[in-house]
Amino acid sequence: MIAFRISLLVALSNSLSAAQTEPDANSTYDVLTYVDPLIGSSNGGNVFAGATLPYGMAKAVADTNSGSNQGGFTPDGSQITGFSTMHDSGTGGSPSLGNFAFFPYASCAEDQVDGCVFPKKSRAVSYDNSTVKATPGYFGVTLNSGIVVDMTVAQHTSLFRFKFPASKQSPLILLDLTDLSDSRQDNGSISVNAQTGQMTGGAVFLPSFGSGNYTLYFCADFSGATVKDNGIFSNSRASADVKNLKISRSINGYPLPGGGFIRFAPGTTEVMARMGVSFINSQQACSNAAKEVPNYDFQGLQTTAVTAWRNKISPITVSRTGISDSTLRNFYSGIYRTMVNPQNYTNENPVWKSESYFDSFYCMWDLWRSQLPFLTILDPSSVAQMIASLIDTQKHLGWLPDCRMSLCKGFTQGGSNADNALADAYIKGISTGINWNDGYAAVIKDAEVEPYDWSVEGRGGLDSWKSLGYIPVQDFDYKGFGTMTRSLSRTLEYSYNDFAISQIAAGLNKTNDVQKYQTRSSNWKHLFKANQTSSFANGTNTGYTGFFQPKYLNQTWGSQDPLYCSNIDTNPNSVCSLQNTAGETFESSIWEYSFFVPHDQATLITTLGGPAAFVNRLNFLHDQQITYIGNEPAFLTVFQYHYAGRPALSTQRAHYYIPAYFQPTESGLPGNDDSGAMGSFVAFSMMGLFPNPGQNVYLISAPFFESVSIKSPLTGKTATIRNTGFDPTYKNIFIQNATLNGEPYTKNWIDHSFFTEGKELVLHLGAKESAWGTHVADLPPSLGKYTGFDNAALLSSDQPPELVHKAVPARPGMTLWQEPDFVAGIDMGHMHAMGSALGAV
Ligand SMILES: *[C@@H]1O[C@H](CO)[C@@H](O)[C@H](O)[C@H]1NC(C)=O
Ligand SMILES: *[C@@H]1O[C@H](CO)[C@@H](O)[C@H](O)[C@H]1NC(C)=O
Ligand SMILES: *[C@@H]1O[C@H](CO)[C@@H](O)[C@H](O)[C@H]1NC(C)=O
Ligand SMILES: *[C@@H]1O[C@H](CO)[C@@H](O)[C@H](O)[C@H]1NC(C)=O
Ligand SMILES: *[C@@H]1O[C@H](CO)[C@@H](O)[C@H](O)[C@H]1NC(C)=O
Ligand SMILES: *[C@@H]1O[C@H](CO)[C@@H](O)[C@H](O)[C@H]1NC(C)=O
Ligand SMILES: *[C@@H]1O[C@H](CO)[C@@H](O)[C@H](O)[C@H]1NC(C)=O
Ligand SMILES: *[C@@H]1O[C@H](CO)[C@@H](O)[C@H](O)[C@H]1NC(C)=O
Ligand SMILES: *[C@@H]1O[C@H](CO)[C@@H](O)[C@H](O)[C@H]1NC(C)=O
Ligand SMILES: *[C@@H]1O[C@H](CO)[C@@H](O)[C@H](O)[C@H]1NC(C)=O
Repeated sequence: MIAFRISLLVALSNSLSAAQTEPDANSTYDVLTYVDPLIGSSNGGNVFAGATLPYGMAKAVADTNSGSNQGGFTPDGSQITGFSTMHDSGTGGSPSLGNFAFFPYASCAEDQVDGCVFPKKSRAVSYDNSTVKATPGYFGVTLNSGIVVDMTVAQHTSLFRFKFPASKQSPLILLDLTDLSDSRQDNGSISVNAQTGQMTGGAVFLPSFGSGNYTLYFCADFSGATVKDNGIFSNSRASADVKNLKISRSINGYPLPGGGFIRFAPGTTEVMARMGVSFINSQQACSNAAKEVPNYDFQGLQTTAVTAWRNKISPITVSRTGISDSTLRNFYSGIYRTMVNPQNYTNENPVWKSESYFDSFYCMWDLWRSQLPFLTILDPSSVAQMIASLIDTQKHLGWLPDCRMSLCKGFTQGGSNADNALADAYIKGISTGINWNDGYAAVIKDAEVEPYDWSVEGRGGLDSWKSLGYIPVQDFDYKGFGTMTRSLSRTLEYSYNDFAISQIAAGLNKTNDVQKYQTRSSNWKHLFKANQTSSFANGTNTGYTGFFQPKYLNQTWGSQDPLYCSNIDTNPNSVCSLQNTAGETFESSIWEYSFFVPHDQATLITTLGGPAAFVNRLNFLHDQQITYIGNEPAFLTVFQYHYAGRPALSTQRAHYYIPAYFQPTESGLPGNDDSGAMGSFVAFSMMGLFPNPGQNVYLISAPFFESVSIKSPLTGKTATIRNTGFDPTYKNIFIQNATLNGEPYTKNWIDHSFFTEGKELVLHLGAKESAWGTHVADLPPSLGKYTGFDNAALLSSDQPPELVHKAVPARPGMTLWQEPDFVAGIDMGHMHAMGSALGAV
């Protein structure tokens, strides 16, 4: 298993030692001490490790030529090809952005410009791992060429500092018109100002997991040294006599290397390079840069970035008593990553004007489950801007995005999951700047109108959905078009989307719609086949009966092995993603999707044989490693024991996965961070509250700290969870009883008012599972009725056995994405499969 791979990394940065040396009281500390941006930067985590503001558009880092360089910098022994300004974080498609890299030379051979190597493929240079420094708002590395490069950022501008070894030569910095994916189209352009060396231009690129294209512009300025000469390069040759270049995409060696260069007076030891970017035009790139970084003050800019991050994260504090730095780093770095993406492109949208415009929702399928709910607690005003932006996007493009990056439509993975995100924000009272009637119209359109191209928006198969109550395998759908797979997981997701809509309808007093969409939210029942069995590949029956199965238009059952595309599916021919040869479940198995009825766990529990059988099956899912915690559908399964009256088992399971599968190391994430989704899973789990997203419900577990405080930025009130009997070795993880604001509290969940009203939850912990939160009256809300609960039988005197990690043999490269004519990749939760293809296992 990926999680047990031993990291071979040498020490990361030295930024983490401050806390140990300060003998300060434990109650006050700098939260940023515990943020390590390098966590998840290798081994398929694809985390952006560089300098950014919260939701910043400029994201500066060293780009590597790793086969898994989606986030730019991947410390896996690959080499550095340049320092670019635009990135996404944690994504699984093709590498995103990475536009307009600088690359420095201390000198060119024989002091001739052609003595420097221009093309990206040939200029890559190694670096020493021990020189890498990454802290919020800052990234630095020393190249083996002796050049020290560090960088910080403003919202749309990067500031790079190049320090050259002392010599009598002329250093050169080139600016490359490429991106990470080499997706540049025709007519990239650059103009170099002979006097100032300012470089302006732009080019058209392709999005990394979507359709269409985007144009990005730049404006580069240099400061701190005397200019010797400048010009452009095309392919492997350069000249100071030419100042303007318009370059083709080329049919060979695509895209043709091209860009600008600038040389400095002999003996120059330091140059500041400022890179402004804009989606509007290069004038705006220049004005952004001039406004945001007027005087090349590196320290001042870095301090501003650090302050911005501290303000965002410091509303959450914990008791550090007995807690290792590694645990704290895991927690705070997870929180940090929730605010790297989405990106604030306000005033940078060339397509329509809007109050606020956010991009890099990459993808809603990942974000709705815990990242956006986490931000709803910690940064509600930003969530309000994001939701307003989603609704605005629907107004202008006709549909809510399911995935969006670089101003383009991204691919839909399952349902119309922006519906869930809107519902979650709505029921938690997010309203500033949002017209909820427009929001409601947007989700209703998802539910009622089929788009022509449902591979990038809305839902397919709506005729069948309305008439049959499920998405048939091999549906007859002539109204809209998309990949005709995933009928089973789409049925389950559409069911939940409709429930989400019913929640907004309830708040807006649309009584008829509440009924209508609640009824449709029960469509999952139509695919449950009570006598379906499941066997392992070796033929041994798993012992479980009753699974979802695909169904044809004529209402007869189709068939898919419930373990197909599970984590233990070792068949190399299994196809599990957006390929048109894939099966009826997306990126996971029927086994795992069997639990995906977030709104009606009561009925699901009855359907699966009652609470004891449900717990048994959930244990089997985890213990047999059928589920894979490195992909988002697994998140809620960790905590679903709550619904069967066994909250203790959820807590136990959270400790089973954290930190074993989520280690605070470069290679420590089990899959793509997916824009911070994994980070939010860690943060919520360690706080001791996990959302059932789209509902006003947080499931209560024992926090990983003696206390956790969260100050609501909206109300200024502080919510606190305190444990008595806390044990930092995590033997006492079982809640014995609880009080909320001093009153006994037996429910195993709380609602959002806990945060906004600053309540206090006190948990008394012990080493044994107790009866707390186990009675039907204690269980979270569910559409159907809880039946068959008998706490005496459920909670026998047997205590839950200790959970032991089992090594599962690495899967032989199950195919997740294979269509060669398809440019983009896919949300690769299953990076272990990808990893083996990359030779990383
Ligand atoms: C740096 O670390 C990576 C692992 O992350 C390793 O592959 C590489 O060999 C290391 N490089 C050096 C020079 O130690
Ligand atoms: C690229 O520039 C050439 C020459 O100016 C022009 O003929 C061509 O139409 C342009 N192509 C695109 C895609 O803009
Ligand atoms: C980019 O997209 C626009 C709008 O769809 C289209 O007109 C244009 O041809 C595309 N450009 C390239 C280079 O693909
Ligand atoms: C303070 O916190 C550290 C962890 O950062 C912990 O090791 C130590 O025990 C705590 N000290 C006190 C007095 O609580
Ligand atoms: C997004 O950017 C706009 C324009 O700079 C700014 O007004 C707004 O506060 C930003 N929003 C967030 C959440 O950072
Ligand atoms: C819905 O009805 C309730 C009760 O009549 C009322 O308090 C509330 O303001 C109404 N909400 C809306 C959005 O109309
Ligand atoms: C399973 O149930 C279906 C009806 O849902 C029935 O048609 C089929 O014969 C049953 N199969 C077995 C093996 O009992
Ligand atoms: C078949 O595989 C399962 C799961 O790996 C295992 O538990 C079981 O013992 C195997 N049975 C046989 C007969 O090998
Ligand atoms: C229903 O459709 C499936 C798929 O086309 C076909 O295999 C099956 O025979 C049909 N069943 C009936 C009863 O028509
Ligand atoms: C709560 O649990 C603690 C620890 O087991 C125990 O000491 C205390 O008496 C309990 N309180 C109530 C009200 O049951």
